[in-house]
Amino acid sequence: MTTNNTLTNQEIKENDAKHILHPWEYFGDVENADRTIITSGDGIYIYDENNNKLIDGPGGMWCVQIGYNRKEMADAVAEQMMKLPYMNPFSLTSSTPALLAKKLADMAPGDLKHVFSTTGGSTAVDTALRFVQFYNNVKGRPNKKHIISRENAYHGSTHLAASVTGKDRDKNFFDLRSDTIHFLPHVNPAKRPKGMSLQAFEDAKVKDLEDRILQIGADKVAVFIAEPILASGGVVVPPQNYYKRCWEVCKKYDVLFIADEVVTGFGRLGYWFASEAVFGVVPDMITCAKGLTSGYLPLGACLISDRLIREISGDHSKGASFGHGFTYSSHPVACAAALKNIEIIEREKLLEHVREIGPYFQKKLHELSDIPLVFDARGMGLVGCIECSVQQLEDQHEDDAAWLAFDTDLGARIDRHCQERGLMVRPLVNQCVFSPPLVITKEQIDTMFAILREAIVVTMHELQEELGISLVKAA
Ligand SMILES: Cc1ncc(COP(=O)(O)O)c(C=O)c1O
Repeated sequence: MTTNNTLTNQEIKENDAKHILHPWEYFGDVENADRTIITSGDGIYIYDENNNKLIDGPGGMWCVQIGYNRKEMADAVAEQMMKLPYMNPFSLTSSTPALLAKKLADMAPGDLKHVFSTTGGSTAVDTALRFVQFYNNVKGRPNKKHIISRENAYHGSTHLAASVTGKDRDKNFFDLRSDTIHFLPHVNPAKRPKGMSLQAFEDAKVKDLEDRILQIGADKVAVFIAEPILASGGVVVPPQNYYKRCWEVCKKYDVLFIADEVVTGFGRLGYWFASEAVFGVVPDMITCAKGLTSGYLPLGACLISDRLIREISGDHSKGASFGHGFTYSSHPVACAAALKNIEIIEREKLLEHVREIGPYFQKKLHELSDIPLVFDARGMGLVGCIECSVQQLEDQHEDDAAWLAFDTDLGARIDRHCQERGLMVRPLVNQCVFSPPLVITKEQIDTMFAILREAIVVTMHELQEELGISLVKAA
């Protein structure tokens, strides 16, 4: 029954199917989508339409760091709304955005002390890339425009951010920018050629970057953009020194380095930002969003180094102004949410907690590798992925396409079995990724991985029956 703005489950589903276009909407069946309804959240849990309690494995979309149902977040937001719900960021300033910018500048590595506030991660990436373009034009280097990204990188859904995204499937049916954008081959150690050492793989991957810069011409390459860990690309953790060595290559050829920390920022790897603290890199720019407000309100930021700003300021500015910005830049209510979120992370020592509990999370994750269906288990801090494959077990099968279909469906199958048991994971083709709220405890990690193990094993048995084969771990 409908009361005020409350709908019945059936009405929600009808409205959803008829009126909401979701991210990554599949148009093959657009009016018949049957999505789980989420009604509320508390701590690491979300509740579905039947009041089932589910561990939120992906932490929303890698963002709900402090967990759900934080009254003090609501209070902080309400207080700011009553005081000043909006402020024109083009010509005015105010206390809450100024406090947040100073806070971010204090957390950032090196001299990344300038903050351009955005509406999310994609707009932060667009801001960084447009700034690089602007910077080189002001510096009188109009040819230094080429951007190097990587296969399987995900940088967002605005036009430019999508153009530097290296996931081919996401580019189908779009006309994206390509003339100045280049992609390096994948950096996934699990997929390195058989017999190649990790060190040799790292060397080869760093060489990919240097070779590409030389091939295009260092005078033409403006920037390298990289996530420290490729998140949506399947939680790919490149070899240990890869990121730092890429930074060194960039410095050698005067190529700027953008660290896309939309996922790795705000505690996911145990630090405010991972670039310097985990990988020893001080980038020229950092993009962040998600964990900045724990997803309670939309907000992102692009942090820019003082050096870059100085080089195009004052006498060097040629009278240029950076014609870029958003109505909701420095939104005071979103900034209030970010400040309260940061306060909670600090007060509850959540960064320390991740550093302490992260190794345990990774241990439990890697233990899943003994299941024959699991091709690779990987992650860092409080983010992980299991990649499953039937193909690895039986590569002699005559109908490759049919086998591939099983692989493609694996993430969704496992997610379904997880949900029946009280856990939600994020299926990505044949992978499941998880980045739970940072407040997760050791006992909750145990429960999470116990459910995941059971769900993978059940999926494997299902496949054994469907395919009529016996799955054993490859030697
Ligand atoms: C690394 C990275 N960059 C950028 C984005 C885009 O952020 P948003 O969805 O907030 O626009 C994402 C989103 O998942 C991301 O993972």
